[in-house]
Amino acid sequence: MPGLIPQEIIDRILDANDIAEIISGYIPLKRAGRNFRALCPFHHEKTPSFMVSPDRQIYHCFGCGAGGNVFSFLMKYERMEFPEAVEMLAKKVGIAIPKTEAPEKNAGVTEKLFTINELAGKFYHDILFNSKEVGSIRVYLEKRGITPETAKKFKLGFAPDKWDTLLNYLRGKNFSLSLIDKSGLVSSRDDASGYYDRFRDRIIFPIFDIKDRIVAFGARVTKDTLPKYINSPETPIYVKGKNLYGLNFTKDEIRKQDAVVVVEGYLDFIIPYQAGIRNIVASLGTALTIEQIRILKRYTQNAVILFDPDLAGELATLRSLDLFLSQDMNVKLVTLPKGFDPDSFVREKGVDKLKELINESVDLFDYKLNLLKNKYDMRKAQGKAKIAGEMLSTISRIKNEVIKESYLKKLSDILSVREDTLLKELSKVKDGMSSIDYESISSDSKTFNAKAVEKMVVKLMLEQEDLISQLRERLEVSDFQDPHIKKIVCSMLDLNSQGKKIEVSRLMNNFDDQEICDTLTHLCLSEECREIDKQKAFDDCVNRIKQENIKEKRNQLRGEIKIAETQGNKDRLNQLIQEYNCLIKR
Ligand code: UTP
Ligand code: MN
Repeated sequence: MPGLIPQEIIDRILDANDIAEIISGYIPLKRAGRNFRALCPFHHEKTPSFMVSPDRQIYHCFGCGAGGNVFSFLMKYERMEFPEAVEMLAKKVGIAIPKTEAPEKNAGVTEKLFTINELAGKFYHDILFNSKEVGSIRVYLEKRGITPETAKKFKLGFAPDKWDTLLNYLRGKNFSLSLIDKSGLVSSRDDASGYYDRFRDRIIFPIFDIKDRIVAFGARVTKDTLPKYINSPETPIYVKGKNLYGLNFTKDEIRKQDAVVVVEGYLDFIIPYQAGIRNIVASLGTALTIEQIRILKRYTQNAVILFDPDLAGELATLRSLDLFLSQDMNVKLVTLPKGFDPDSFVREKGVDKLKELINESVDLFDYKLNLLKNKYDMRKAQGKAKIAGEMLSTISRIKNEVIKESYLKKLSDILSVREDTLLKELSKVKDGMSSIDYESISSDSKTFNAKAVEKMVVKLMLEQEDLISQLRERLEVSDFQDPHIKKIVCSMLDLNSQGKKIEVSRLMNNFDDQEICDTLTHLCLSEECREIDKQKAFDDCVNRIKQENIKEKRNQLRGEIKIAETQGNKDRLNQLIQEYNCLIKR
């Protein structure tokens, strides 16, 4: 998490604060050997799986997978930005943060972009409400069932059918063209002769962040022209797939009701909201991303997805819902009758009917199973295998062992397949997320699980530091497949070559990806590999990674050889065959 605060100051602040003391100011911690244990503040649980390690100055929850150092804890718990968390802890221990003389060139851009969006939002909003020419647009909104109060609440607006209204307005406020360009509100002409308004003759839906700031816009035509919606491009303040539309308005209610209703579109959010469903968000596209799910999980563990009936039958869509399970969320599904979306359903059938459907929603597991039962013949072995495969890939995502077992049992009953047979199959689909299990990755096992093996290497290096220099001799960072592990290995090698001891709580400040921190703290705090010979395990893993890379390379060469053959390119063919033979000798 690079920032303007000098690294050595950040390290000093980190050292001067004790993570156990800070966290115990928020939640009660109980001693458990060298660590502390607590009920996780980031997900609902009855038995504590949240661990704080005073030795390592990190925390990790074995239930939801969240982890990090004291900064990340505050960021997550208090919803602070990194610099805020650093400042707060600096104050606590009386360390002064020096003011940097020349702030980065980029500093301030973010603030300005928020200002531009705010102004643009107001500009469009004023046009919708005050301009005489757009009476027909107000009528359109009325026809769609949106009251003026609702339109005001969500700051809906209208972009006139001209090329430069907003551009001129913003220029008049003295913003530079380059900044206006960065905001995504304008497009540049093909011949680079200037800019024009991106949104024209469209209804504007501002997209807010959690702090009520406008980060982007969506814009809908009012006729039947295409594309129906256009949206802001990604900008320094807007990353697609990391926002949930409406969450700023509904987060408190989501927390209160301990459930969230997820829909797709702007209107599918606005109309039910207006009708009284207040624990709702919109994904603004089809598939929910893992980041969006993580955000939701801060507020609740229970999600109900209102499905577009066209997509409901799609296995691919269901598979993307498995993501919820990997985050320990409970997912239920509602399929609306054909031809309806949440917006039209509420307007035609009433909100109470929708609430009924939500109450009757079906668990993802049952839903998927039913779908598969209709698709494959359960009486035939092949059909059973197909169903088992699909369902096991869902079950493998579940972290909670009790739930996992109950699902396995259910599946075993329905398919009349023994539970231990299913368990065996399950171990094949495991993706190395749930636990680090040496058995499943040792060279005797037939399937190669890259992520699990790579995690094991990192774990061993964390436990026994001299293995890091061994790794440098034997593997390249590029030999690793998992992008997160790559980053971790890279940082570890880096620190090690500077002769520095690896301190995980510091290491973490190098990554701004929460998932990397989660992985790292999991590796640190999961049970030590005591039972095994670490050197042997390390050799074993390194060899497997090497073998796998050679295998990969061989396949690649084989492909290239085929191409060279069909092209009749003899020189290239000879060269490739030589390479191939070398590889085989290794
Ligand atoms: P839908 O096509 O279901 O539209 O797209 P909708 O939300 O029901 O819109 P109305 O009711 O016709 O006004 C669902 C969501 O997918 C995104 C938008 O966020 C939309 O709300 N979308 C759709 C786009 O970004 N671009 C498009 O061209 C279409
Ligand atoms: Mn719609």
